[in-house]
Amino acid sequence: ASRADGIAPGDHVLHDHGWREYATLPAGRVTKVDAQAAPLSTYLGVLGMPGLTAYAGLVRVAAFKPGDAVFVSGAAGAVGSEVGQIAKLKGASRVIGSAGSDEKVQLLLDEYGFDAAFNYKKGPVREQLKEAAPDGIDVYFDNVGGDHLEAAIGAMNLHGRIAVCGMISQYNATEPTPAPRNLSQIIAKRFRMEGLLVADHQDLQPQFVEEVSAWVRSGELKYRETVVEGVENTLDAFLGMLRGENVGKMIVTLGE
Ligand SMILES: NC(=O)c1ccc[n+]([C@@H]2O[C@H](COP(=O)([O-])OP(=O)(O)OC[C@H]3O[C@@H](n4cnc5c(N)ncnc54)[C@H](OP(=O)(O)O)[C@@H]3O)[C@@H](O)[C@H]2O)c1
Repeated sequence: ASRADGIAPGDHVLHDHGWREYATLPAGRVTKVDAQAAPLSTYLGVLGMPGLTAYAGLVRVAAFKPGDAVFVSGAAGAVGSEVGQIAKLKGASRVIGSAGSDEKVQLLLDEYGFDAAFNYKKGPVREQLKEAAPDGIDVYFDNVGGDHLEAAIGAMNLHGRIAVCGMISQYNATEPTPAPRNLSQIIAKRFRMEGLLVADHQDLQPQFVEEVSAWVRSGELKYRETVVEGVENTLDAFLGMLRGENVGKMIVTLGE
């Protein structure tokens, strides 16, 4: 129900009250979305928060410019798959991705148009990255941290940029994790490394939606979703996402 201006019963809205079937909120705390303009789930994925994270991280934080060679980890996920494709569409010289299965690697190459991709579980990231990016990288979009970050520092060209979006390999660590052992290369290579929080970049939302929704409509930017049915399965879906059971955005529907 709603008596607020601009929000009518039957409208679809986004809210930030977490995983639930029912929520009561002031109208100012919801964002109306248009179910006719795009499938509802895309407002949580390719055209939603993960999409803006990819866009802002690449365009603003990593200061991407055409001709850059871009490496992205977690590349078959919601954020990563969008980073690689936006980089390609904006004129990257080479886009390299890493993911945790051969099927995901094939998807990066066949469907998302990455120039090179590798399965990080199959060998040292440093060696696989060196092979995939023989001329080095100018941008690293980090979703993973750990040995991925260390390998990216090793492959970084002069004046490169690292946008640190996530460090999923360290989220469940029970011991302190080692810092990248080669961080001192930041001096000789003069690269810049900056953390990224999507909430700081809401001002890019209109620009992001305009540019990316056009690519989604034209089919130039592709996306996948992994859909789990039933709010009671949310925790399993979340843990599955941490284990890499998702391709693209992990979506939970409320079910019947
Ligand atoms: N800073 C921000 O504002 C912001 C906003 C949104 C998301 N994020 C971060 O961005 C990253 C991606 O988020 P997302 O929502 O798009 O998730 P996602 O990439 O769709 O799903 C997470 C993926 O991480 C990979 N993964 C799990 N453990 C790993 C490990 N030990 N090493 C390497 N990869 C591992 C899995 O894929 P594999 O099969 O490839 O292992 C899994 O599918 C996360 O780190 C998240 O925390 C940050």
